Amino acid sequence: MRTTLIAGNWKMHLLSEEARQLVRGILAGLARVPSERELLLIPPYVWLMPVAAQLRETSRVKLGGQDVHWEGEGAFTSAISASMLRDAGCEYVLVGHSERRHVFGDDARTLARKLRAALAGGLQAIYCVGEQLAQREAQETEAVLDRQLQEVLGGLGTEEMQRLTLAYEPVWAIGTGRTATPEIAQQAHAHLRRRLAEEFGEAVASQVRILYGGSVKPDNAAELLAQTDIDGALVGGASLAAESFLGIAMAGSGVS
Ligand code: PGA
Repeated sequence: MRTTLIAGNWKMHLLSEEARQLVRGILAGLARVPSERELLLIPPYVWLMPVAAQLRETSRVKLGGQDVHWEGEGAFTSAISASMLRDAGCEYVLVGHSERRHVFGDDARTLARKLRAALAGGLQAIYCVGEQLAQREAQETEAVLDRQLQEVLGGLGTEEMQRLTLAYEPVWAIGTGRTATPEIAQQAHAHLRRRLAEEFGEAVASQVRILYGGSVKPDNAAELLAQTDIDGALVGGASLAAESFLGIAMAGSGVS
């Protein structure tokens, strides 16, 4: 049974007081979120420790980093290691978010190293995949997803796969207000799960959570989360206000 994970990626948003208020608002509304839903906050690095301190009162909201370096330590100005993330209170980390790929130029080799460092460092990794608009229009979506899986997940063991979550984030839907329809998203998720089954076996494939990301909002979340192979959401913009994040966390669960 895969538990639903609702993750809020704050990206490079919010000053300290805004971050504090947001967490306070989420904690105040937490009782309304069904207990089987797991929540995850992914703030900028500088707010990880204050957010971790606020989250001490609950075990239901986890903390994650937005990226990780592949080395354990060293002369890597600006980078953060897996052990630093753990020390700051993180259980999760994003690897391969489309902004890392397309704005910062993280390539497959870099992402494979980051993913291995995250898993070896005891973190749960959320590995993001997704096609660009031109690739979708050229009907290359499945080929792009296959490549993104193969290049980075190839050779992982069963134990490592247990700490892996995938996020399908079509690049054309991120921050654009243009969400994939539930059918389009489900098709891509089912494809990813089939590929995982071929590569790692049915048992592993049925356990790996696959989140959808790209303009998820309280009013489209229920339909997306109702799809068989959609196990949660990776939320950007709508995670920056407590009410919309909580609205997504409650969506489709019968409470509102
Ligand atoms: P968005 O971002 O919800 O603002 O589209 C999603 C993401 O980039 O993870």
